[in-house]
Amino acid sequence: MKMHLDEKIWLTLSFGMIMIFMLITGYQTFAREMGPPSHKETIDPQKVDETAPFDEPGIKKIGENEYEVVMTLQLFSFTPQNIEIPKGATVHFIMTSKDVVHGFEVAGTNINAMVMPGYVQRISQTFDEAGEYLVICNEYCGAGHQMMSTTITVN
Ligand code: CUA
Repeated sequence: MKMHLDEKIWLTLSFGMIMIFMLITGYQTFAREMGPPSHKETIDPQKVDETAPFDEPGIKKIGENEYEVVMTLQLFSFTPQNIEIPKGATVHFIMTSKDVVHGFEVAGTNINAMVMPGYVQRISQTFDEAGEYLVICNEYCGAGHQMMSTTITVN
């Protein structure tokens, strides 16, 4: 096969670009840990109330300014409601849904998670700034979806 010089140049350039993009993506995923979460943990959605740790939703202190929040999401609320934590606290949220797909978005932070029935969602966040953070459900879950909210107060 005879190839024109221009063709060779363009082929080399496009192949080079693809390699560069893949290297950047690989670097972000593996070196910077910016890849999508790969955590998978399941739960029987019919038995959330009887399954640890969701049989006792709430806030638990687990270390020096470190907290664990076990949370259930259901039509149309978050349990526990109105969480209060001290400034600088690192919070590990462990969540599941008792019915349909809900969202867990904390305004003013990077937290934005989908919480699905049958799956356990884990997400950690350090709250360095005091204030009242609005928590909303950002997945349409039914007639009361727009009322599904709560707060996290950092002080
Ligand atoms: Cu829950 Cu929308």
